[in-house]
Amino acid sequence: MEPVKVGLLGLGTVGGGTVTVLSRNADEIARRAGRGIRITHAAAKTYDPDKIAGLDGIEVCDDAFAVVDNPEVEIIIELIGGYNPALELVMKAIENGKHVVTANKALIAMHGNEIFAAAQEKGVTVAFEAAVAGGIPIIKAMREGLTANHIEWLAGIINGTGNFILTEMRDKGRDFAEVLAEAQALGYAEANPTFDVEGIDAAHKLTILGSLAFGIPLQFDKTYTEGITRITRQDVAYAEHLGYRIKHLGLARKTAAGIEMRVHPTLIPRKRLIANVDGVMNAVLVKGDAVGPTLYYGAGAGAEPTASAVVADLVDVARALTTDPENRVPHLAFQPAHLSDLRVVDIEEVTTAYYLRVHAEDKPGVMAKVAGILGDAGISIEAIQQKEPEEGETHVPLVMITHPVVEGNMNQAIEKIEALDTINGSVVRIRLEELGG
Ligand code: HSE
Repeated sequence: MEPVKVGLLGLGTVGGGTVTVLSRNADEIARRAGRGIRITHAAAKTYDPDKIAGLDGIEVCDDAFAVVDNPEVEIIIELIGGYNPALELVMKAIENGKHVVTANKALIAMHGNEIFAAAQEKGVTVAFEAAVAGGIPIIKAMREGLTANHIEWLAGIINGTGNFILTEMRDKGRDFAEVLAEAQALGYAEANPTFDVEGIDAAHKLTILGSLAFGIPLQFDKTYTEGITRITRQDVAYAEHLGYRIKHLGLARKTAAGIEMRVHPTLIPRKRLIANVDGVMNAVLVKGDAVGPTLYYGAGAGAEPTASAVVADLVDVARALTTDPENRVPHLAFQPAHLSDLRVVDIEEVTTAYYLRVHAEDKPGVMAKVAGILGDAGISIEAIQQKEPEEGETHVPLVMITHPVVEGNMNQAIEKIEALDTINGSVVRIRLEELGG
């Protein structure tokens, strides 16, 4: 059988990695796919041919639309990133009856519903394994491997830059800003590092995972997003003393009220496997009713790890070229006609435990007052510690762990604590999840 012909848009880090992996492992991949897979055309505005092994035989131009319109090409790989012109290119490829493989999490999270509807209509596939957690086959696991289960919740470390920063803050007692500068220099961070540290990149990925888990349309705008920019090395150290680790988690959970979708710094017990995922590595913990907790770990970024996911999608598409569109794995795991309208709940309705830190005057009755406000709001304290004051400080840090409570109640209690004249500044609050099986 003739090799399937592929057009590649973008020859950056992941594009280059894809060319290299596909040419280096061509025979192994063909044995698995049942036929060869060959990139025949590529488009890139700029690229460095000396840095990409395997470019020979690929016709490279600078017009992505020319590749998308080329009748020889059956599959388009979109690795340009961003919304424009990526959206237009993907829609055009679909209109031209081509299958698409993309690593573009922002595009899928924001425009996936319309992209999948168009693909459905045209009978083509849009595959996006590389969009979430780089090389970890988490889309495959959730769409196929866990298909027997009611997914109850999932929790993921799905941004390597944020995980690198928190790991360095913990291990070396370094400050946030200093480690961020290093992450940028090492090339881990997105072009706009705000996407990493403010949780937007993780929210794109969580939006996709939440839809796959619960069969709901993609709703990026309803995903609560909070970054790690306000996490101090003191909080990282205090959490550690209490037996917890601070991770920037994406959490999706089905509750009686609806679906929780949230990205925020989270204390998790140090003894959990996922708490020990360090540096730029990613991991996703998925709890299914039949299988129990399952953990997926690996590189969340980088040329060849991400290429591994892109090529896996290519093989899937190549294998399915001759199948009826109705018999293919649905884009969002559930059949499009059976998506659910379960609502995504507001963050005020979420139930979670908390780590709280206040700066209190060191005199009798202050701790009791704070505890009283929490008690009156029905919030039970699990642990409370007074820490040494920072040099030159008159107030002392009081650190607390609470039992789970509805966030709206906690907000009211925090307002009252902040109004006490014995408390300095605002209350630091970090959500806490046990992530038990
Ligand atoms: N900037 C992302 C991260 C890369 O740090 O995880 C891949 O999405």
